[in-house]
Amino acid sequence: MLRRQEAEPPSVGMPPPRPSMLITDPEFRTVLSAIHHLDDVRTPGTGHGATVGGVAELVSISVHDCAQIAQRLAAANLVNPSWVREGALHLTDDGRDMAYCAREIEVCRNAADELFLKLGWDEDLGQQEILDLGCGSGAYAVEFARRGGGFVFGVDVNEAYLTYAKTYADSEKVGNTAFVRGDVLALPFGHDVFDGVFVRNVLPYLPHGRALREVASRLRYGGWLCVITHGIAYYLGQFAAAVRAADARRAAIDLAVLANGSLHSLTGCQVRVGRKCQVFSTLSRLEKTLATCGLVVKRAWRTPGCCGMTHSWMVEAVKC
Ligand SMILES: C[S@@+](CC[C@H](N)C(=O)[O-])C[C@H]1O[C@@H](n2cnc3c(N)ncnc32)[C@H](O)[C@@H]1O
Repeated sequence: MLRRQEAEPPSVGMPPPRPSMLITDPEFRTVLSAIHHLDDVRTPGTGHGATVGGVAELVSISVHDCAQIAQRLAAANLVNPSWVREGALHLTDDGRDMAYCAREIEVCRNAADELFLKLGWDEDLGQQEILDLGCGSGAYAVEFARRGGGFVFGVDVNEAYLTYAKTYADSEKVGNTAFVRGDVLALPFGHDVFDGVFVRNVLPYLPHGRALREVASRLRYGGWLCVITHGIAYYLGQFAAAVRAADARRAAIDLAVLANGSLHSLTGCQVRVGRKCQVFSTLSRLEKTLATCGLVVKRAWRTPGCCGMTHSWMVEAVKC
């Protein structure tokens, strides 16, 4: 079922928006999540993106149902209506970005209360200046702003995400945010300025030492850093999914991440393959790297995954 949202929808490269809706229907969520994983699917003849047939295959629903879902996604303004042609959804990169951002906002809405409670942020954030690094959809930056953050900067390298985040912040009527294009490895801010830095699901893609040194230098003394990042079970799950989908390329990438993550956790080395250096995190390695940046782990929580291994880590550290 679709729930109507009060405000204007995000509009990355879109025609004038119609009233936007939030996705609450589990069927929609499954399709959105499939779209998010369609990066490597290319359908001959479309030139870009994937057709509904590809989505249907991934989520095991009929092509007919999927075509209807495509129409509903377009009606909900989550994809550009011109992408729905001949009963098929032809996605561009923007389309995937939009779908991804919408899904992350849903995830954040569902998880934010628990997250804030866990970290003791259930009360007013006390006008803190906060940096959300690799902010993506802006879901968490908006949540910080809504919960009493003095000013929240969202930083990302991806322009499409920043446009989405700005529109989302406007639609939620939080004025105390700014979204800035920037690289975590060369941040456009002075030193010792932020009360808190939040980094969710960005660290796996970055050289840990460099990124955390950069982050630590922007924090004032006594300031907090919250890192949420993937553990080994996340990538084992990704690998298993790629094998089930007979996606050899995806499986090879996940295997490389697992190998690189193992090396990293044992030695601290993070091998760069092309432009990528993706790894999973272990708490002991993260603690060591944080310590070299003057950050001391205060608390850590793990989300268990398969066979008792860690799916994700949430670590709170303080600059001493
Ligand atoms: C998996 S998404 C997570 C988005 C958001 N933090 C969330 O939890 O919903 C990773 C984000 O990191 C951003 N990113 C990756 N490398 C970056 C870099 N070097 N500097 C800034 N942002 C980066 C990507 O553009 C993307 O928005």
